[in-house]
Amino acid sequence: MPSGRLLVKGLLGGVVLLTLAFWNLKFWLPLPEGVPRPRQPQAGLTVLIWHWPFGRPANLSGDVCATLYGVEGCLLTTNRSLLRQADVVVFHHRELQSGQARLPLGERPPHQPWLWITLESPSHTYGLARLGGIFNWVMTYRRDSDVFMPYGELVPRASPAPTLPPKDGLVSWVVSNYHAGQRRAAVYAELAKHVPVALFGRANGRPLCPACLVSTTGRYRFYLAFENSQHHDYITEKLWRNALLAGAVPVVLGPPRATYEAFLPPDAFIHVDDFGSVRELARFLSGMNASCYQLFFRWRERLAVRLHADWRERFCTICSRYPHLPRGRVYRDLEAWFRGGDGPQGEGPGGAGGGGGGGEVPQVPRGGTQEGF
Ligand SMILES: *[C@@H]1O[C@H](CO)[C@@H](O)[C@H](O)[C@H]1NC(C)=O
Ligand SMILES: *[C@@H]1O[C@H](CO)[C@@H](O)[C@H](O)[C@H]1NC(C)=O
Ligand SMILES: *[C@@H]1O[C@H](CO)[C@@H](O)[C@H](O)[C@H]1NC(C)=O
Repeated sequence: MPSGRLLVKGLLGGVVLLTLAFWNLKFWLPLPEGVPRPRQPQAGLTVLIWHWPFGRPANLSGDVCATLYGVEGCLLTTNRSLLRQADVVVFHHRELQSGQARLPLGERPPHQPWLWITLESPSHTYGLARLGGIFNWVMTYRRDSDVFMPYGELVPRASPAPTLPPKDGLVSWVVSNYHAGQRRAAVYAELAKHVPVALFGRANGRPLCPACLVSTTGRYRFYLAFENSQHHDYITEKLWRNALLAGAVPVVLGPPRATYEAFLPPDAFIHVDDFGSVRELARFLSGMNASCYQLFFRWRERLAVRLHADWRERFCTICSRYPHLPRGRVYRDLEAWFRGGDGPQGEGPGGAGGGGGGGEVPQVPRGGTQEGF
């Protein structure tokens, strides 16, 4: 009967309408306190940098993100009067740690996302316990950060690789803060018994000017890219600039080999852990012939080093990542997040933690702005 069918249709229609109504209602209900509800930007995003890292603001006039990095619609500002309008407010940890800067907690507009930045390792980071429940996003060198910011990366090469600098030494190391208790100091001391190591940097009274660094380390076949502490994903400019950009083969000490392999081809570096002893490592370095040495540079045919050293680039990346940033996230225990993920390889007081079983995170998906390797 037609009337029966109409009734069914009517009922179905009502259910659909009610469902739609509830669905829409969901968007009008208030979000719980502290959960960011980012505005949908019409005219672009405003990123407020509450204090400039290390206190030297860069030139932000003009559309720096578009002109320098091709990121459109991204206004970087240090003008604190824009707190109410800002889409994201950025806080660099060093100045919070030292007390030079304070969080404007009392003036925070409801639901405004705050982003915490550090590029230091947990061994040199303090005062996180009081920063719980404040930040929605983090930017660090860790791949599981909301905004992943490595010190460098390999990118497809646009022009032929420059020839390698001529070598007149075997191994070099630049070190500013030498502490006998660090694992890198112990490895260096043992290595130096077997092969000559040219030592530069403040620790040895031979500082290199910024412009001289790469041209100096490039004259040696190998560079000791030893991190000051061993932490999850903690790989710094010691690898990217001092070794790879300079044209020296990095001998790395830091996270496990598998971590480096997420960033570099496996044959682009030598890992201290590849050897049973430092003596074996020394023998490997001093005994290497030219043809074997050349194999460490195969990546240069198709890849080039790109350093991420300008804070403006790092801040512009917030805009390019913005559409993909998780909504509703709060780092309730920032300390636990930052100190976690190290597993047993985290450095305890007095040197290296015991190796073995160090937890590896899943790799970030390829693609995206800074993340593909
Ligand atoms: C800052 O950048 C703008 C635009 O690129 C330029 O015109 C200006 O001279 C720069 N100012 C300083 C102090 O370097
Ligand atoms: C900061 O922003 C306010 C509000 O837009 C503006 O009146 C002021 O001139 C700005 N200050 C600077 C130093 O740009
Ligand atoms: C160079 O060293 C490699 C690895 O030890 C060896 O296989 C190769 O024969 C050597 N080449 C020359 C030319 O000595």
